[in-house]
Amino acid sequence: MILSDLQLSKLSQNHEITVSIDQDLARYNSFRLKSSGDLISVKSLKALRDVVHFFKSERISYRVIGQGSNLVLPETSNWVYLKLELPLASNILNEPQIEYNLPASVQLSLLTQHALKFGLSGWEVFTGIPASLGGAVAMNAGTNLGEIGNIIIDIQVLKSDGEMYSHTKTPASFSYRRNNFLHNGDIIHSVRIKHFGIDSEIPKKIRDYQALRKKTQPLNIPTCGCVFKNRKVVEQGEEKIIRAGQLIDLVGLKGRSVNQLQISHVHANFFENLGRATKEDFLTLVQIVNDEVQSKYGFKFDMEVEVW
Ligand code: EPU
Repeated sequence: MILSDLQLSKLSQNHEITVSIDQDLARYNSFRLKSSGDLISVKSLKALRDVVHFFKSERISYRVIGQGSNLVLPETSNWVYLKLELPLASNILNEPQIEYNLPASVQLSLLTQHALKFGLSGWEVFTGIPASLGGAVAMNAGTNLGEIGNIIIDIQVLKSDGEMYSHTKTPASFSYRRNNFLHNGDIIHSVRIKHFGIDSEIPKKIRDYQALRKKTQPLNIPTCGCVFKNRKVVEQGEEKIIRAGQLIDLVGLKGRSVNQLQISHVHANFFENLGRATKEDFLTLVQIVNDEVQSKYGFKFDMEVEVW
């Protein structure tokens, strides 16, 4: 428990803020690692600003949990978890728009439904990513159809000192699975995105990709998505991608486990949580993989997943 009774009662006076003390966080992250902590949900931008102001004055550390899909959570923490539940204007997804100003907490799956219905070109890039918009933007999430950075216009951010700023996307804003503009404590609260017109091929593209993922990835078991980044190398002037899943498979590590955490038989860049695995189990399995890769190929894979 991070919050004192007094802090809890002060926060609880705001009806747009919900506080859960020592919450089991399994429900809040796709990996379902053994983890608990104080969780604060905010239902409006005003409530978010109030909470951040409160954190600053009380010197409370926080982290935004998003949809919790590319995260490895510790069993206990010395920060509170902040969950955005910002309202989505009810009519915004009724018709295709030129651009969309969306709350960071909107789930990408909802946007994919909209893209499927209207054939929005560009929105296929985030098909199947189990994330909130803000979380996906923060890590420039993507698939082999592209990256979410492609369709961003600008990003609205609340800083830990309570100031707000807007970041207009430039070619330097994003690189592979990362952003280059957020600072520690910054919270994305809304994002303006565009598309590249209506294209009748898009729904098929999205459906084909969904079917491919279903076939090639363990989607019905708790995982954190791909554990490692693919590795880009330049050989004789040509860029080549070393696929983490392929190489981990090749070195024979599929099925290798540490306690209740196992390297997937379906796709070797996924670790499956078969019970109540922990962050320690995760780190041990990462080390096993990287030791093996290092001894055979002389490098280690960088992690794609965020470890807290
Ligand atoms: N492969 C194997 N064995 C395995 C897994 C893959 O031989 O166990 C081979 C496949 O047969 C294929 C190649 O490796 O020839 C590449 O596999 P895949 O098409 O699944 O692509 P990937 O590079 O492993 C990337 C993203 C995924 C994304 C898929 C599909 C990264 C690190 N991974 O995987 O993203 O879903 O493409 O678009 O960029 C994620 O970001 O969490 C994630 C899983």
